[in-house]
Amino acid sequence: MLRAIVHHFSSLPSTNQTAIEMARAEAPEGTVVVAEEQTAGRGRRDRRWFSPKGEGLYHSIILRPTIPCDQAPILGFLAAVVLSDTLRLDYGVDCDLKWPNDILIRAKKCAGILLEMEPGDDSVDYVVVGIGVNLNQRAFPDDVGSRATSLFLETGCETDPLRFRQRLFEHLAGSYESFQRSGPRDVISRWTERSSYARGKTVRIDLGDHELTGVTSGLRDDGALLLQTGDGAIQPMLAGDVAGVSDPFSTP
Ligand code: BTN
Repeated sequence: MLRAIVHHFSSLPSTNQTAIEMARAEAPEGTVVVAEEQTAGRGRRDRRWFSPKGEGLYHSIILRPTIPCDQAPILGFLAAVVLSDTLRLDYGVDCDLKWPNDILIRAKKCAGILLEMEPGDDSVDYVVVGIGVNLNQRAFPDDVGSRATSLFLETGCETDPLRFRQRLFEHLAGSYESFQRSGPRDVISRWTERSSYARGKTVRIDLGDHELTGVTSGLRDDGALLLQTGDGAIQPMLAGDVAGVSDPFSTP
């Protein structure tokens, strides 16, 4: 079973960056880098992750699974499923999952996941799973304010970051073990069950230089989102930002 080896910092530029440096220096699987604040927290697609002191959970976990590199994105889906288990089972909060790795409460983002991976010879060398959870924020900067929420804003209760992290790790350890035993199918089907975006939703996908609109038709075993476009063709999407066309906060 995966065991946590926790390194706690009061402030870091980015827990992912520190975890990558530790992984390169042979830190073992299960190493967890936690910071009370991040001064340059990283999000997907070169965005910043708002990381004020003591208000959220900012941490990165080093994994060294024996899997081919093209399966590494499954760990992001696994982390999303585990976050949804933690919210539901330990905090009584239902969430939605937005492809690839966003955790939404009432259509606003409450947590995000950033995977950074290093290929080895036949399989991955390491994957850093960076997880940020908005726990006790009362407000967000103007540029994300309408699209972000925190557990406090949703429930009116303060959450202890240490307890949340420990519960999350326990769920992660169990799910990671069964993923290593049984492969990605179970992770993909658990993600699909919990996501309103997985099937039959009309979405717009921002691919950086252009956008695609279509209806979602499930996930492939490698995590690609299958999108049925106007001509009926099914296109596998491996990257991009998704927004439901009827979402209230629909910037991808
Ligand atoms: C996203 O949704 O864009 C991903 C956000 C990931 C943020 C977390 S916070 C802990 C870890 N360290 C970072 O610099 N980023 C991730």
